[in-house]
Amino acid sequence: MRLIYTGIAILLVSVAVFAAEGDHDSLRGNVPLLEERTPEPLYEVENNDLRRIRAYPMQPPTIPHKIDNYQVDLNANRCMTCHSRRRVAESQAPMVSVTHYMDRDGNFLAELSPRRYFCSQCHVPQTTAPTQVGNTFQDIDEIIREQRQRGQ
Ligand code: HEC
Ligand code: HEC
Repeated sequence: MRLIYTGIAILLVSVAVFAAEGDHDSLRGNVPLLEERTPEPLYEVENNDLRRIRAYPMQPPTIPHKIDNYQVDLNANRCMTCHSRRRVAESQAPMVSVTHYMDRDGNFLAELSPRRYFCSQCHVPQTTAPTQVGNTFQDIDEIIREQRQRGQ
């Protein structure tokens, strides 16, 4: 029992410390716990139809167009009305690649694989929002170039 009380006391003290310092949560900024934060503005979704570079060959490409109100559920898959094999002549959208027709054992299916059905599990549109945290990602080409230079 005493252990539980000690636990609760430690928890309360840490909440108090967090509340006092106030700047431990990147989402809240340095707004005190008991105050409400002014919400971020709604940022524009990029909709320029320009395909972006992929950071590595296996990256699911980001979506260069808006997907507002595109229905993807048990009854319909709006994405496939443009991206399926049969629709690309009409839509001029890139076809979902062959991996989207493969099951987990590598067999090719006639239809979209169920594990690739919910597109936005992997593909996301981009917004003009500023990045919240830093990023030190380096393209593999840069790493290879640096290593070659060092080797010479
Ligand atoms: C009205 C047709 C249409 C619909 C519906 C549609 N797309 Fe697209 N999509 C396109 C076209 C056309 C492009 C090529 C770039 C452009 O013109 O925007 C594209 C590009 C893409 C790309 C970029 C591919 C690459 O190689 O960079 C992705 C990813 C994508 N769409 C995913 C989706 C997803 C996910 C949905 C559903 C939420 C969807 N699209 C719905 C037409 C469509
Ligand atoms: C489990 C993750 C996943 C899901 C779900 C998924 N994709 Fe992809 N997609 C990828 C990956 C990874 C790539 C890039 C490598 C590849 O082609 O497999 C890709 C590539 C693509 C491309 C570019 C193809 C090309 O050859 O340039 C399009 C377009 C695309 N996906 C559309 C879709 C659509 C539409 C859906 C929903 C019907 C979907 N994807 C569902 C992971 C996914």
